[in-house]
Amino acid sequence: MLGNFRYANPTTLYFGEDALEYLGEELSRYGKRVQLVYGGGSIQKNGIYDKVIEILETNGKTVFEDGGVMPNPTVQKLYEGCRIARENSIDLILAVGGGSVCDYAKAVSVSAYCEEDPWEKYYLRMEDVSCRILPVGCVLTMAGTGSEMNGGAVITNREQKRKIGRIFGDNVFPKFSILNPAFTFTLPKYQMAAGIYDIFNHICEQYFSGADDNTSDYISEGLMRSVIHSSRIAIENPTDYEARSNLMWTATWALNTLVAKGKNADWMVHMLGQSVGAYTDATHGMTLAAVSMAYYRHICPFGLAKFVRFAVNVWGVDSRGKTDEQTAYEGLACMERWMKELGLVMNLEDLGVTGDMIDGLAEGAFVMDGGYRRMTREEIADVFRASMRSEQEKAK
Ligand code: NZQ
Ligand code: ZN
Repeated sequence: MLGNFRYANPTTLYFGEDALEYLGEELSRYGKRVQLVYGGGSIQKNGIYDKVIEILETNGKTVFEDGGVMPNPTVQKLYEGCRIARENSIDLILAVGGGSVCDYAKAVSVSAYCEEDPWEKYYLRMEDVSCRILPVGCVLTMAGTGSEMNGGAVITNREQKRKIGRIFGDNVFPKFSILNPAFTFTLPKYQMAAGIYDIFNHICEQYFSGADDNTSDYISEGLMRSVIHSSRIAIENPTDYEARSNLMWTATWALNTLVAKGKNADWMVHMLGQSVGAYTDATHGMTLAAVSMAYYRHICPFGLAKFVRFAVNVWGVDSRGKTDEQTAYEGLACMERWMKELGLVMNLEDLGVTGDMIDGLAEGAFVMDGGYRRMTREEIADVFRASMRSEQEKAK
C-alpha cells in the first residue's frame, strides 16, 4: 500500500540544447549581486564559463567569483563560501557545474546567515534551518546526483573523516536549473560512468525496500531500463545527444523525491560509499560501485521477491524452471556484467582503501533501517571486506 505523502517540487527546469537562453529571464527575478560558484576549471576549458558570464553581464549583474569547489566539497570551503556571500550581500547564488558545485551552493545558501557552526548544526545535530536562506540557481554540467532538483547538500569534513549528506526541505531546492545535455559531452569517461552508476544506484536505493506493488516501483523499473539502454550507447559514443539527454533526465527523476513517495528507502549503499569517500576522497559513483555487489548479494535473501522482480523486469531474466534464488542471483550477475562493461571500479583497493581501514569504515557508516535488513557493524565490515579485491579473488 502506498504510504501517505505530500508532493511538491518547487524547482523550475529548463531542458535542452537551448536551455541556457532562459537564464536571463530567471536572473531578472533576483537582485544585482550574484555569487558565481564553480569547480576546478572544467567550465573555463569547455567555454560554459564565458557563455554564463556574458549572460550575467547582459543582465547587469555584478559577479562575485567563488571557484575551486572540489569534488566532495569540504567544510573549510563551505566557510569560505559563507564569507563571500555575507561580505558581498549576495542576492543569488548561481552554481555552474556538477553535483558537488550544486550541493555546495545549497550548503552556502543555508549557512551564510547561520549564527552557529553550520557543520555542527546541520550535519552533526541535523537541525532545521532557522536563518535567512539565499536563493540558488544551477547550470548543470554533469548528470548523476539529482542535486539540480532536490534539497541534498553533501559536505565532507576531512579532519573528522565524515562525509554527511543532509537533505534540506523544499525551501532549499534550487529555484531553477538549466540542463543542456550537450554540456555533459566534455566529461571524462570515468566521471560519466560514475555518474551513470550514481543514477542507477539512486533508483536501487528506493526500489529495494518494501514488498508493495506500488506505482513507484514500476516507474523505477522504467527508469533503470532507460539508464541501462542509454548508458551502453553513451559509453560507446559520448556525444550521442539522445543517450546523454536520456541519462540527464533520468538522473533528475531518480532523485527529485518522486519515486521515494509512499515508500521507505534503503540508502545503505550510499552510507557505505560515503564512509569510503570520507577516508579516500574517491569519486562518489565509484564508491557506490565498489561496494554494491557485495551489499546486494548480502541482502538478497532478505528481500528475495523484489530481487526476483528486479531480475525479470529490469534484466529480462527468464525465470522458468529456476528457483527464486537462482533467478535473483542471475539478475545480480547481469547487473555486475553491465557495471564491468561501463568500466566502473568494482573493488575498494582501486579507490585507495587498505585493509587497516575496514574497522574505521564500518564504524563511520550510518546504519539506516528502511531496507530489507538492518545491518550490524559486523555485517557492514563483512561487506567492506568482501569488496576488497583480495577477497573477491579468494571467492572465485
Ligand atoms: O571541478 P570541475 O573542474 O568542474 O570538474 C568536475 C569534477 O572534477 C568534472 N566535471 C563536471 N562537469 C564537467 C566536468 N568535466 C568536464 N566537463 C564537464 N561538463 O567532474 C568531476 C566531478 O564533478 P562532481 O560535481 O564532483 O560530480 P557529481 O555530479 O557526481 O557530484 C558528486 C557530489 O554530489 C554528492 C556526492 O556525495 C558528491 O559530493 N551527491 C549529492 C546528492 C544530492 N544532492 O542529492 C546525492 C548523491 O548521492 C551524492 O551523494
Ligand atoms: Zn549518489
